[in-house]
Amino acid sequence: MKKGYFGDFGGRFVPELLMPPLMEIEAAMRDIMPTQAFRHELDDLLHNFAGRETPLTRCDTLSRELGCTLWLKREDLLHTGAHKVNNTLGQALLARRMGKTRLVAETGAGQHGVATAAAAARLGLSCIVFMGAVDVERQSANVMRMKLLGAEVVPVESGTRTLKDAINETLRYWIAEQGSTHYCFGTAAGPHPFPTLVRDFQAVIGHETRRQMLERTGALPDMVVACVGGGSNAIGMFHAFVDDADVRIVGVEAAGTGEPGCYNSAPINLGSPGVLHGNRTMLLQDGDGQILPSHSVSAGLDYPGVGPEHAHLGATGRVVYGMVTDTQALAAFKALTRAEGIIPALESSHAVAWVLENPHLLPQGGNVVVNLSGRGDKDMDIVREHLFPSLGGKA
Ligand SMILES: Cc1ncc(COP(=O)(O)O)c(C=O)c1O
Repeated sequence: MKKGYFGDFGGRFVPELLMPPLMEIEAAMRDIMPTQAFRHELDDLLHNFAGRETPLTRCDTLSRELGCTLWLKREDLLHTGAHKVNNTLGQALLARRMGKTRLVAETGAGQHGVATAAAAARLGLSCIVFMGAVDVERQSANVMRMKLLGAEVVPVESGTRTLKDAINETLRYWIAEQGSTHYCFGTAAGPHPFPTLVRDFQAVIGHETRRQMLERTGALPDMVVACVGGGSNAIGMFHAFVDDADVRIVGVEAAGTGEPGCYNSAPINLGSPGVLHGNRTMLLQDGDGQILPSHSVSAGLDYPGVGPEHAHLGATGRVVYGMVTDTQALAAFKALTRAEGIIPALESSHAVAWVLENPHLLPQGGNVVVNLSGRGDKDMDIVREHLFPSLGGKA
């Protein structure tokens, strides 16, 4: 396969000025990441700071209803509340060893921003986070957390004022500040080598799951399921199972309201190939290649593109990509909370919803693992608005 490509997808479509820092990261991945000293320091941070390994929780109530055993990989229990911290600790450590003094990041739901700010604080780096103005409003608790952690948060007013626009601004900032600054990219998308870099830092999710399932059940899972925004939690879970033909793999995109022609965040199902943010991938776009506005009730899935490895896994059929509406995700949020005592992030609720909505597609009598990418604390305002409207928004 061509370097930096996943089949027809991937690559590095960037202005000349971004080539040097991207090549510098590639060199660091080759020379620093595999060393024992780097692995040792990262493993220590993941264990003693972030809280790995995360448990695998069997859901007894929902399993009885579904006719198969449902397991959750509990990335929600990590420090800062989501899988994002696996990647930010890795990149922050790499940045420090590359001699950088500052991290810049984009964020949608705010989880990646918080995880970057926490990693920066821990490792003595300064931090600046670009965030769409719409997301600043709907994820205000995370904005406060970033500021408390010492990050400067810059609201982005261009475009749809969401994640896509935040990435544009961050790339611009990075061009100017590349000498001192590492772009801590938040998902498995963007120009090469980011899709591979982020996947490699998130692959710990699938490797742990594989080992835990073998220990607990004596076999690999029959199916693994994860939500797909840019695709980092999903590829982190899928990577360890892609070569196991007997493990069915399902990614779940956000269908928005689900009405025909509605705004959504499902580029693999409803988009077409094109170039955005430095890579060729599946995109929501019109006939002229203009990017369409995306929508999801969960800010972390609200992106008109997807990581190129997912576009490839979808094109080859190795991974099946389903869709879940806002309403179905909110119902699953409620169902998991009531049945199992776990309050999931709205992003992760999409993965849970796919399982609850598609019992006929599940391996009866088998084992299904859902990657619970984050916890729902950050989503309380949105949940209050949707689930408690008759109480004037009061829970
Ligand atoms: C909890 C959670 N899950 C999933 C996502 C989606 O990102 P990705 O597809 O990169 O995992 C986000 C993004 O902010 C998130 O906060």
